[in-house]
Amino acid sequence: MPLTTTSRATTTTLVHPAAAQGREWWRHAVIYQVYPRSYCDASGDGIGDLPGITARLEHLARLGVDAIWLSPFYPSPQADAGYDVADYRDVDPLFGTLADFDALLERAHGLGLRVIVDLVPNHTSDEHAWFREALTAGPGSPERARYVFRAGKGTAGAEPPNNWSSMFGGPAWTRVPDGQWYLHLFDTRQPDLNWENPQVSAEFEDVLRFWLDKGVNGFRIDVAHGLVKAAGLPDWDGNVVMIEGSEPEPEDAPSGASGAGPMFDQEGVHEIYRSWNRVLAAYDGDRVLVAEAWVEPLERLARYVRPDEMHQAFNFSFLTTRWDAPAIKRVVTASLAASDAVGAPTTWVLSNHDVVRHTSRLGLSEANARPNGIGRDDEQPDEALGLRRARAASLFMLALPGSAYLYQGEELGLPEHTELADDLRQDPAWWRSEHTERGRDGCRVPLPWAKDEAGFGFSPTGATWLPQPAAWAVYALDTQQGNTDSTFETYRAALRLRKELELGTGSLAWVDAMADIDPNSVLAFINRDVLVLANLGRDSVPLPEHATVLHASAELDAFSGVTLVPCDTAVWVRLEA
Ligand code: GLC
Repeated sequence: MPLTTTSRATTTTLVHPAAAQGREWWRHAVIYQVYPRSYCDASGDGIGDLPGITARLEHLARLGVDAIWLSPFYPSPQADAGYDVADYRDVDPLFGTLADFDALLERAHGLGLRVIVDLVPNHTSDEHAWFREALTAGPGSPERARYVFRAGKGTAGAEPPNNWSSMFGGPAWTRVPDGQWYLHLFDTRQPDLNWENPQVSAEFEDVLRFWLDKGVNGFRIDVAHGLVKAAGLPDWDGNVVMIEGSEPEPEDAPSGASGAGPMFDQEGVHEIYRSWNRVLAAYDGDRVLVAEAWVEPLERLARYVRPDEMHQAFNFSFLTTRWDAPAIKRVVTASLAASDAVGAPTTWVLSNHDVVRHTSRLGLSEANARPNGIGRDDEQPDEALGLRRARAASLFMLALPGSAYLYQGEELGLPEHTELADDLRQDPAWWRSEHTERGRDGCRVPLPWAKDEAGFGFSPTGATWLPQPAAWAVYALDTQQGNTDSTFETYRAALRLRKELELGTGSLAWVDAMADIDPNSVLAFINRDVLVLANLGRDSVPLPEHATVLHASAELDAFSGVTLVPCDTAVWVRLEA
């Protein structure tokens, strides 16, 4: 039950006590997502690589994050930018070698950064040895039983076995020359594995051990809610999307089944994560599993992080919530309640490689709308407004207790590339949706490191696999370093303070009432002795007297000796006794 207390000037409601659980690193860590093809290129081919990442790990140590998560770098035909894995125990020559990976890990650990790698267990690439064997071996063979092959429906089996669609558009089934069909929730080149087959589970436990033995600190589990499908693969008339983005209701929403359809969030997935938890526990107790599970409501998501399953799950409900103070307050409260109930930390995330960058989402006329990509002919975000709000959103997020995820480039305030030529798009969603969804290339553009260098210093040759907008010069790291007002220095100071003030293991008490503050437009909470205010309204709001400003996402105003927080600004202050 929330606790309501009245102090000097404010009434607060405690919804999360400090250090309610243990203090393991992952309960409060800030984890930075590195998207290998776009972080830094050492080889000069225009595609980022592992040596490039190693060369620029110091940037992340300086930024002050605790860990990195690497998107896939395994051998892959790159039909879905590496989320189509052909060999789970190696490195694609595009990104380097296993020795390069070892060097990266050693350097990261030397800098005090933990390393999480991506595991893609729902599907393999069609170039994986198992899938090739399945095609050659034919219907009814044990090789086919590692995947989901079925006979078709209708005359001569010419119709797919059921009506499921692929997440990227089009049917979720592809027919092979002998007449059978195989299931792929994503691209045709990403056949789904059959998790009822013990060979599949044994293989993945072995893959986990391969990377654990190397010393990785954990795994981000791709499509963690998809591995097990409902028995009989029944037809389903729902819309297959990753998440609807439905927000918690003003009144406590009833929890229950997720309604995700027969392909997602089935009970059987939990047994898999219990066994993986045991695999990790046999190491030093310091390794983690992070679920990418687009599951709602939050109570349903929390089932992935029960004590004997995974350790964290991405909080996409937070990412998808409107730019609206009461809605954000509800989702934060519901997130903390759901994860506290199972003893797990809450996570917070605003951007990743699958969504339009939050700087751009927040600059749309419907703030934080979630288009699947933005093209030249679509509404263009207001860049300055989006950046201002994004900085406020990030500062608000980084003061919350729990663990936070950053996506590469957000520390530079990078917007989405919204004017990418359509013929350069690589996301399979673009053509599978018959050019109705522009997809995710706009958030995957190579990072700008140096304003005056070709390709903004991404690669020694100036090559970049997707073109960077010329206007990105102002976002290059070298224009921001040392400039206190820059987005980079704002993030850096936030991470330093977050650590010093122990906000990650702290508490959350909402300020219910405060002089001159309208709860419909201002978010206000206290974590330890820090008051965090985010003004989403139109008017400036005054800070309480005796407040020492610790950090702010934008310049504050003053009027008659009172400090004012302008609109779309977040501030951290210490209240003097
Ligand atoms: C996850 C990844 C996404 C990928 C999909 C299929 O959602 O984040 O990039 O396309 O899984 O593997």
